[in-house]
Amino acid sequence: MSQRRLFVTTALPYANGNFHIGHIMEYIQADIWVRFQRMQGNEVHFVCADDAHGAPIMIAADKAGKTPQQFVADIAAGRKPYLDGFHIAFDNWHSTDAPENHELAQQIYRDLKANGLIETRTIEQFFDPEKSMFLPDRFIKGECPNCHAKDQYGDNCEVCSKVYSPTDLINPYSALSGAKPVLKQSEHFFFKLSDPRCLAFLDQWTQSGAVQPEVLNKISEWIEPGEDGKPKMGDWDISRDAPYFGIEIPDAPGKYFYVWLDAPVGYLASLKNWFGKTGRDFDAFMADPTTEQFHFIGKDIITFHTLFWPAMLHFSGRKTPNAVFVHGFLTVNNGEKMSKSRGTGLDPLKYLGLGMNPEWLRYYLAAKLSARNEDIDFNPDDFLARVNSDLIGKYINIASRAAGFIAKRFNGKLGEVSADGDNLIDHLQTAAPAITALYAEREYGKALREVMLLADRVNAYVDQNKPWELAKQEGMDGRLHDVCTACIEAFRLLTLYLKPVLPALATNVEAFLQVQPLQFSDASSLLGAGHGINAYQHLMQRVDVKQLDALFEPPPAPAVELTVPGGEPIADTITIDDFGKIDLRIAQIVNCEAVEGSTKLLRLTLDVGEGKTRNVFSGIASAYAPEDLVGKLTVMVANLAPRKMKFGVSEGMVLAASHADETEEPGIHILNPWPGAKPGMRVR
Ligand code: 2FM
Ligand code: ZN
Repeated sequence: MSQRRLFVTTALPYANGNFHIGHIMEYIQADIWVRFQRMQGNEVHFVCADDAHGAPIMIAADKAGKTPQQFVADIAAGRKPYLDGFHIAFDNWHSTDAPENHELAQQIYRDLKANGLIETRTIEQFFDPEKSMFLPDRFIKGECPNCHAKDQYGDNCEVCSKVYSPTDLINPYSALSGAKPVLKQSEHFFFKLSDPRCLAFLDQWTQSGAVQPEVLNKISEWIEPGEDGKPKMGDWDISRDAPYFGIEIPDAPGKYFYVWLDAPVGYLASLKNWFGKTGRDFDAFMADPTTEQFHFIGKDIITFHTLFWPAMLHFSGRKTPNAVFVHGFLTVNNGEKMSKSRGTGLDPLKYLGLGMNPEWLRYYLAAKLSARNEDIDFNPDDFLARVNSDLIGKYINIASRAAGFIAKRFNGKLGEVSADGDNLIDHLQTAAPAITALYAEREYGKALREVMLLADRVNAYVDQNKPWELAKQEGMDGRLHDVCTACIEAFRLLTLYLKPVLPALATNVEAFLQVQPLQFSDASSLLGAGHGINAYQHLMQRVDVKQLDALFEPPPAPAVELTVPGGEPIADTITIDDFGKIDLRIAQIVNCEAVEGSTKLLRLTLDVGEGKTRNVFSGIASAYAPEDLVGKLTVMVANLAPRKMKFGVSEGMVLAASHADETEEPGIHILNPWPGAKPGMRVR
């Protein structure tokens, strides 16, 4: 088969927050497909970018005291640890605010306009008179006209779910300034998607196999006539008024493209930028009818990608996507949706920070993913079982069981494989087309099930032949060599089949087996007798249940802001074990004196029941005369590391209450236990 040329993208994340696990799942899904295509010998260009524009980002930047450009640059700077961490190998990461995107979006608009598909209309919209800006629906709040719940958004009520327009709200107010918004007229630009040409094109495109059947079901009401004889598709408002962080509409001062107009154009812009960096011809690539274009997206942005975007491309004379692959949401423990605004549950950086192997997650998600637009659930027990029992128990262990004998007994060289081993390998090789087809169709769960069934076969072969027993028997060297060789050959094939999912592990196996990077075409060949392999090095740890516990431990409760003068927020929550690390003791102040050369410190001699005294410096000279303290009891931290100070070593610390600024009234107060406490008693 001749080499295919593919252009693959994932949805461009808004540049107003870090990635959550939902983003990572999509990237992993696409990355597996891209790696698979490359292992098939295809040319793939895999790109993404930050979705930089829009009112929410402009407003967030303003709140953060940054320009929008600075704000999105700061977000972009945080992307790498996630992408590298989970082995997501985009060729390029760009931004929709880049010059390529400004040019392409403006050109696409001009082409649509020349095609008679842009028109302007005057509309009435809420305007914030204090901020001097038109308000997006999400920035207008008020009382629900249906259930009268207060403080509901301008587009729908979160209490009764009623959908309405902002002008229906009772007592509307601007969420930005609190001001009462006024209705103001403005000229807006529309993409005439209800034009019969658009509907005819979309009817044909959506039925060309470019979308999954369940997606087609969802979107057909937009194109096909409904009960009232009309499709749901209306014209699309693609303009916003200044101030707006976006791309200016040509020949329309003060008008900008709505963020969703230029966002998908960012796919092309990122590819163009990548081609620019690598000296390729973007225009020629996109004009080539054999180039294939694929977008991986989530189910929340289907209409933009399967209706608006293909129409934009087609009517501006460009290539349309060959397919849009829609996935469902990821829930954690059957719990909360990993929605954009509430990315809670499984923090990807925390996962990596705990030393958890990124390929465990890749494997687990792949095992759950199918070609369908359906939600999947991350379940910690299931994760543990699949990684430890399947991935490690069934696959990794094959290598660890066979490689030692090859190294120790056969000088690291493979031998001949006899008939039963041949049968096994044959079986594994015959599976290649089915596994290939499953990857191509994004049926990763099914592909991995096939691979694990093959691993079961290999393990059954090991159990029948018991190399550890052969190794002890006289005259069985040949058989041992034969069995272990079959296992290593099988392990190489399984590694090849798992490589799209486990790229880093596969690289280690390639080094161990002394082979070139594995391609799918290698499934038909074998290492062969005499091939040398390296000593086996442990390839993958098991998941420790403690890691999963730590991963899902809720983050510390947010600190409460105190409003008292001089008050400090309560520090982050600690556990009782954290507290137990501090050894607090009742101490008797047996002596106390001023420190020469210091106006702040007193020198305390403390008895904490150890049969000796301790010397402690304390910054309480402003509050106490030394003689007033002698003989008193107080509380000290008895296990604080000794600190060398200018005036001597301090062997602990006495506890005192004050505001953050100790000079603020009412000053410093050392602690004094109730009568009855004795020196040396622990405070807990
Ligand atoms: O929903 C989102 O997160 C959007 N930022 C996706 C944009 S995808 C593409 F159109 F850029
Ligand atoms: Zn309501």
